[in-house]
Amino acid sequence: EKQNRDVLQKSFKEMISTLPKENCWGIPEALYQYQGFWLTPPFLQGALSAQQQFQAQPTDIILCSSPRTGAAWLKSLTFATITRTSYNDSTTPLLSKMPHDVVPFMEFDHAQFSTNRHLGIPLLATHLPYSFLPRSIIDSGCKLIYICRDPKDTFVSLHHFIARYNKSQNTQPVQLDEAFELFYEGVNWYGPYWDHVLGYWKASLEHPDKLLFLKYEELIEDTVLYLKKIAEFMGYPFSSEEQQQGVPENIVQLCSFENLNGLEVNKTGKHRDGQGDLAMENNIFFRKGKVGDWKNYLTTEMARRLDQRTLQKFRGSGLSV
Ligand code: A3P
Repeated sequence: EKQNRDVLQKSFKEMISTLPKENCWGIPEALYQYQGFWLTPPFLQGALSAQQQFQAQPTDIILCSSPRTGAAWLKSLTFATITRTSYNDSTTPLLSKMPHDVVPFMEFDHAQFSTNRHLGIPLLATHLPYSFLPRSIIDSGCKLIYICRDPKDTFVSLHHFIARYNKSQNTQPVQLDEAFELFYEGVNWYGPYWDHVLGYWKASLEHPDKLLFLKYEELIEDTVLYLKKIAEFMGYPFSSEEQQQGVPENIVQLCSFENLNGLEVNKTGKHRDGQGDLAMENNIFFRKGKVGDWKNYLTTEMARRLDQRTLQKFRGSGLSV
């Protein structure tokens, strides 16, 4: 099996080397454009390998998002909900692992171990655009949850994340204006951002029972309400007894930005420890966890341009941010 995998990886590498390429954002890996989206080689290879080999099961729940829109939060909320009878407040793995390490990531973990089911939970995460999802995910009828966020906050969060990553790698950070133009043109991890969101939005209209479409802003506004919807959608509804006992509120508290950000593991631990360039300090994943922080970074003109692009891209789709 390993030999087959090596042959496949080699053919993916060759194909990737023929794609349009951009060296940008000050990151060591270039971005390559494949079927309308920009990805770095390790994740693109992982995507291609998942497309060929990943076997979804009808009970799987796939957490989908573009980077920096609230995936870690969604992972912690869904993980805590699904495992609420196996662990309590003092035994939950969320106290000792960062949220990205409790849910396997399809285009990375799956590519390494083709049967990534060792955690015994039905959750799997991906940043892949809807059009990139392995066929078996659609055919199996498993459930998908997508989270999106205001493009302005997404951009500001991404810029900070990459700047912190650059710093940890001792590479030159990219200035905000330059990063802004790249994001505006759609040249960022898994970008264009709007196309990523629209792919899932349209799919959620076609299959509302299979795809739950969430917005970071709404989740912040009433986390308990949305957590109940998420639990119900996943097939793990809170019973009335649990609701009386305040179980949903407890999970919301456990997964709050303040709580997770304050945990030792998220301050000093490492995500993908030992994986070379792909390892990162956990603390760079947590920043402010607020809505509207873009106001502190973007000029009025930048905000106007991004809003205008959003309006233009989402026109006629029924989606607004
Ligand atoms: P900011 O950079 O605006 O603070 P992702 O997990 O998809 O990479 O998204 C990262 C964003 O979610 C960051 O936004 C991060 O701070 C925020 N975040 C992380 N954990 C959170 C939580 N528990 N609640 C709310 N936001 C959270």
